[in-house]
Amino acid sequence: MCGKTTTLLLVLFTLLLTTSLSKDLCHKDDKNTLLKILKAMNISWVLEDDCCTWYSVDCDNANRVISLAISNIDVSGQIPPEVGDLPYLQYLTLRKLPNLTGEIPPTIAKLKYLKFLWLSWNNLTGPVPEFLSQLKNLEYINLSFNKLSGSIPGSLSLLPNLTALELSRNKLTGTIPESFGSFKGDVYGIYLSHNQLSGSIPKSLGNLDFNTIDLSRNKLEGDASMLFGAKKKTWHIDLSRNMFQFDISKVKVAKTVRFLDLNHNSLTGSIPDQWTQLDLQTFNVSYNRLCGRIPQGGDLQSFDAYAYLHNKCLCGAPLPSCNVKIKQPIFI
Ligand SMILES: *[C@@H]1O[C@H](CO)[C@@H](O)[C@H](O)[C@H]1NC(C)=O
Ligand SMILES: *[C@@H]1O[C@H](CO)[C@@H](O)[C@H](O)[C@H]1NC(C)=O
Ligand SMILES: *[C@@H]1O[C@H](CO)[C@@H](O)[C@H](O)[C@H]1NC(C)=O
Ligand SMILES: *[C@@H]1O[C@H](CO)[C@@H](O)[C@H](O)[C@H]1NC(C)=O
Ligand SMILES: *[C@@H]1O[C@H](CO)[C@@H](O)[C@H](O)[C@H]1NC(C)=O
Ligand SMILES: *[C@@H]1O[C@H](CO)[C@@H](O)[C@H](O)[C@H]1NC(C)=O
Repeated sequence: MCGKTTTLLLVLFTLLLTTSLSKDLCHKDDKNTLLKILKAMNISWVLEDDCCTWYSVDCDNANRVISLAISNIDVSGQIPPEVGDLPYLQYLTLRKLPNLTGEIPPTIAKLKYLKFLWLSWNNLTGPVPEFLSQLKNLEYINLSFNKLSGSIPGSLSLLPNLTALELSRNKLTGTIPESFGSFKGDVYGIYLSHNQLSGSIPKSLGNLDFNTIDLSRNKLEGDASMLFGAKKKTWHIDLSRNMFQFDISKVKVAKTVRFLDLNHNSLTGSIPDQWTQLDLQTFNVSYNRLCGRIPQGGDLQSFDAYAYLHNKCLCGAPLPSCNVKIKQPIFI
């Protein structure tokens, strides 16, 4: 009886031992690097042996770390340069860490498999790094809600697989790079709102068919009519709160557009009849220099007067009708 139990225990024990030994553990280099990163960020988590099981870490089948995501915790200091020593990393997210300061470290340029870089809502400073254009696998860049300054590197247009570039809510200056009219890849969304970008936008941007373009709250000026086009597949266009100045009378908007915000610019001309054919969810042309009758029909009357106020001489529903203007002298 006793012997049988011992044998059974021994078998169980060996089984347990071999499974735990043969159990794949994360690569020791990656683990050492992760430990350094956590230490540098003053993160003290209770950690299991296998770093692939750690909260915020994912590994591939070869037990190399491919994803690191840290958010919403009380970390302080700079992005540890050691993040560049996770050679198989594809996804890097450091988000909502208000005490994460300093520049985006150049060691990130070593992450040649990086696809996804999400560093939003921190307090990062310095430039949008030029070296990002070397990371040819990048598909998604989101550096929004930081204090990044300087101009936007034109070389980002060389990224062949980029689908979204989000740099909104920073302190970026300068113009939108000329090269953005010839992105190598199929860019789906460009988000540059709430910066201090200035100058006119490159004509070449007319070549692109973004799903979303958000240039709101900058100091951009001149013509932006090239962004529109009846044949495009655009869904969302936000040019609000800039200094754009062009005549909208002949601007054809793609039928796919649902969001069109042009408020606070210096747009002239009258609203084209073609716009009554649109299926709009958000629409705003207030605070411009538009004139003439608002075309009647489609969705244009489903927005209240606030979508049209403060123009030069727009009239017709939802604004007052066009003929109750100044009393004309009557000639008999
Ligand atoms: C950030 O740091 C400041 C000052 O060191 C501290 O008071 C604050 O609690 C920190 N906030 C977060 C979210 O870590
Ligand atoms: C980590 O915490 C220590 C002690 O609170 C502090 O002195 C150090 O500056 C912190 N490190 C970083 C990178 O913020
Ligand atoms: C950046 O830090 C300041 C204080 O230094 C804080 O008030 C602000 O919320 C932080 N920004 C972000 C986006 O967390
Ligand atoms: C880009 O995406 C394609 C298709 O998903 C993939 O085959 C390729 O390896 C990616 N990277 C580069 C640098 O083109
Ligand atoms: C970028 O990150 C911000 C903040 O987390 C988020 O609100 C925004 O939707 C993201 N942008 C894109 C294009 O995913
Ligand atoms: C249009 O924009 C103006 C100015 O920002 C704002 O006051 C108004 O509420 C907006 N109207 C609609 C219908 O979105």
